[in-house]
Amino acid sequence: MTILLKKVFQDTGISLNVLQVLVTNTYDSILITDATKDAKIIYANKAFKKLTGYDPSEVMGKSPRILQGAATDRKVIARLTDSLKRGGRFEGKAVNYKKNGTPFIMHWRVLPVKVGNQVKFWVAIQRDGFVI
Ligand SMILES: Cc1cc2nc3c(=O)[nH]c(=O)nc-3n(C[C@H](O)[C@H](O)[C@H](O)COP(=O)(O)O)c2cc1C
Repeated sequence: MTILLKKVFQDTGISLNVLQVLVTNTYDSILITDATKDAKIIYANKAFKKLTGYDPSEVMGKSPRILQGAATDRKVIARLTDSLKRGGRFEGKAVNYKKNGTPFIMHWRVLPVKVGNQVKFWVAIQRDGFVI
C-alpha cells in the first residue's frame, strides 16, 4: 500500500467507512465470496446488479458459476480454478450471461484476501469487457 493510502486507513481510524463508501459507489461490479471450494457469494454491490441484472440478495450463497453458459471458455475457467488452488490472483475475459440470458464479455480479476498465509475471502472486480 502506498504511504498516503496507509495514512487514510490508519490515522483516521475510519477505514471501514472509507471502504464502504468505495465499494458501494464504485462503477465496477464487486463480488466477494467465501474461501470454500465452491466459493459462495457473500457480498455483491449495486454495480453487480447493473452489470448482470441479478439483485445481490438473490445471489447470496450461490457460486459465481451462475453467470456461465454454453459459450463460456472453459480454458479461462480452468486457469481461474488453478489460480484459486494456488491462492493466487487471476485476470481474464470470458462470455458470461445476464439474468435475462443476454451474453456479454465479462472482464474480471479475482484476488485473495489473506490472514497470514490463509485465504479468508476472494474478491472479484468485474466489468463489461466489450471495448469499442
Ligand atoms: C470471487 C470470485 C468471482 C468469480 N467471478 C466469476 C465471474 O464473474 N464469471 C465467471 O464465469 N466465473 C467467476 N468465478 C468462477 C466460478 O465461481 C468458479 O470458480 C469456476 O466456475 C470454477 O469452478 P467449476 O469448474 O466448479 O465451475 C468467480 C470465482 C470467484 C472465487
